[in-house]
Amino acid sequence: MGLFSNKNGGTAVLPAAPDAAPDSLIPAPAPAPVAPRPAPAVKVMAAPPMAQPNPGPTSERTTYLTQLKVRLHQQLVNRLDVQNLRVLPPETVRGEVRVLIRELCQNEKGLINSADQERLMDEVMDETFGLGPLETLLKDGTISDILVNRFDRIYVERKGRIELSEVRFRDNQHLRQIIDRIVGLVGRRIDETSPMVDARLQDGSRVNAIIPPLALDGPAMSIRRFGGKPMQVEDLIRHGAFPAAVMDFLSAAVQARCNVIISGGTGSGKTTLLNCLSRYIPADERVITIEDAAELQLQQPHVVRLETRPANVEGKGEVNQRDLVKNCLRMRPDRVVIGECRGPETLDMLQAMNTGHEGSMTTIHANNARDALSRLEVMIAMAGYDIPMRALRHQISSAIQLIVQARRVTGGRRKVVSVSEITGMEGEAVQMHDLFVFEASGVDGDGHAKGRFIATGIRPKCAEKIENRGIRLPADLFLRRAIDSAQ
Ligand SMILES: Nc1ncnc2c1ncn2[C@@H]1O[C@H](COP(=O)(O)OP(=O)(O)OP(=O)(O)O)[C@@H](O)[C@H]1O
Ligand SMILES: [Mg+2]
Repeated sequence: MGLFSNKNGGTAVLPAAPDAAPDSLIPAPAPAPVAPRPAPAVKVMAAPPMAQPNPGPTSERTTYLTQLKVRLHQQLVNRLDVQNLRVLPPETVRGEVRVLIRELCQNEKGLINSADQERLMDEVMDETFGLGPLETLLKDGTISDILVNRFDRIYVERKGRIELSEVRFRDNQHLRQIIDRIVGLVGRRIDETSPMVDARLQDGSRVNAIIPPLALDGPAMSIRRFGGKPMQVEDLIRHGAFPAAVMDFLSAAVQARCNVIISGGTGSGKTTLLNCLSRYIPADERVITIEDAAELQLQQPHVVRLETRPANVEGKGEVNQRDLVKNCLRMRPDRVVIGECRGPETLDMLQAMNTGHEGSMTTIHANNARDALSRLEVMIAMAGYDIPMRALRHQISSAIQLIVQARRVTGGRRKVVSVSEITGMEGEAVQMHDLFVFEASGVDGDGHAKGRFIATGIRPKCAEKIENRGIRLPADLFLRRAIDSAQ
């Protein structure tokens, strides 16, 4: 069965399948000239991000290649046979499309060399079946964030450093088409009435898109990569995020069903830590995860994953985290894991932690462990609950045993900068002490924070709970000392 129709010139409509939505194809009109995508796709910025100029002017050749790409793409669309496209396996479709592109390129013989032809083919394939210019970046496993500030200004983060990429969209319309394709894949839409949206790529990466009038300079998009294998505890230890001794303690605490909050700023590594810690939940316990945009990758067999749903265009149908926490308590969970607590669900989560769902975990945006406690209070107060402060603090102090503070330290590396234990109340105040801390001491030659991890010498109250469960802790774990990262 062939893929291509004989009807030349007819406008082919691609099926609404994930990788071939009709409105996501590139239109025929000549585009604004843009720079090509040289390899490597990104260059390291010498200056701070905002000071980086765009790459130089576009050459005539670049303009020719860009226009050729658009022309090829349009010819391809015109010649695709929709019926066959629907029924053929995706690999066959891709293979045949490649053959057709090669054939179309033959007509340009002499004008493009074989390297250009190969690149054009890849780019047209990306436009037709993937996410256009983003595909180059998505294929690069070292990139952790893709930040599209504007169609022609895309930053990427790798190894904690932000770089200006030379990849770019043709214009705002092109960027918008790719955004539409991404949000369409998860059954959402973005338009003037709902100009911001969360979505997810097929590889699990988290996407946020925002368009005018809210975004002033045209559509913008932020992608947090979660493709491939999630980072493991061993990776974090190797990267110096914390020493093995700290993980010995945290893993024992998770097994022993301590309630843990991971606190940190944006992109400080909270979700990664939550993922890693969840590995220590015994396989026979029933875990329910609740997230706004699912990104946790729990390894356990007994997990039910729940995700919120935004309101539709009529403003109906919203299911928020609080609804899900309430529902999940009827699903007989042993533990509840909330991706990030940021609203009215906070009180329900504390209640769950206090009432038979010990070993629950969540993350929270705060700059240090003390702030994390204040944030909890503020979130509950803002949700309109009229609870006396003392009662609220009592609830917090009895629900939470540990606060793990994550931070992106100078130079961009992520570290656990403190592990603190909540021990109860004294008067009006929640009592807390640090068990492990990272003591910073300047920066090294590469601009990375230097420092050492310290065990503060305090034996935690929860050590007894841990040992009562038959989990043995190393004898010297809590002795006051500096701990080597590799230990
Ligand atoms: N210790 C680490 N070393 C290197 N990279 C890390 C480390 N921890 C996390 N990362 C990477 O940093 C990025 C941000 O991590 P993560 O999503 O866990 O942060 P977050 O605090 O949950 O972010 P957000 O505030 O956006 O939810 C991810 O790409 C992750 O793979
Ligand atoms: Mg997160």
